[in-house]
Amino acid sequence: MRTVFLKETSSTNDDIKQYLSEGENTVVCAERQTKGRGTKGRSFSSERGGVYLSFLRFYENFPASEAFAVMTHAAVSVCRTVEEFGISPEIKWCNDVLVKGKKIAGILIENILSGGFLRASIVGIGLNVTNPLNGLEDIAISMGELLPLPPPAERVRDSLIAHLAQESGLSDYLHYIRFLNRPIRVTEGEHTFLAIAREILPDGRLLIEQNGICRPLSAAEISITF
Ligand code: BTN
Repeated sequence: MRTVFLKETSSTNDDIKQYLSEGENTVVCAERQTKGRGTKGRSFSSERGGVYLSFLRFYENFPASEAFAVMTHAAVSVCRTVEEFGISPEIKWCNDVLVKGKKIAGILIENILSGGFLRASIVGIGLNVTNPLNGLEDIAISMGELLPLPPPAERVRDSLIAHLAQESGLSDYLHYIRFLNRPIRVTEGEHTFLAIAREILPDGRLLIEQNGICRPLSAAEISITF
């Protein structure tokens, strides 16, 4: 796997697209980003001290219907990384990694699909190490806040790259899910209601139970809070 190290860039998820035609798995890392991108068109604060990287991976004969595996692998890799430094994470469906109820990392996935197959995926990960959280302290947390002697961002980056290069499966993902069989607040369009989270299906949908009736719902249809 090729690895490219940058001091500064706008967004590693954008940079990495120049390698799409080459067919070689590649990681692009940056010490800071000036236009970090989050999900739902949001920006992602990316000051020095954090880990910002994008992993471009190519696939053969990978059905698009199994693309949830890209997300589970990214979340598991982040969990294994912070665990290596003594921190206990949990995954909030579908791909937020939380510690003490706050987000320690953000994951942005861009999939390249054709003819019902996943050809390549770009997994962008921003992990808070000692970077300032810039007013997001109520919802975000960093390794620096959790550890008396936080590691340098480069060590965390190298650990994350090593975990991304390994394999993981749905059972590894489920190991970090703590909210099943508990009440959750579900927002579906204009409506917010309480339900019990029952199961995460192999296609990534969450099975919720409301008034005794179970429904599988995708992350595009609902958001959840605990
Ligand atoms: C989110 O939580 O909204 C997802 C944030 C993803 C941020 C990472 S940092 C590396 C890569 N480059 C970007 O511009 N975004 C992703």
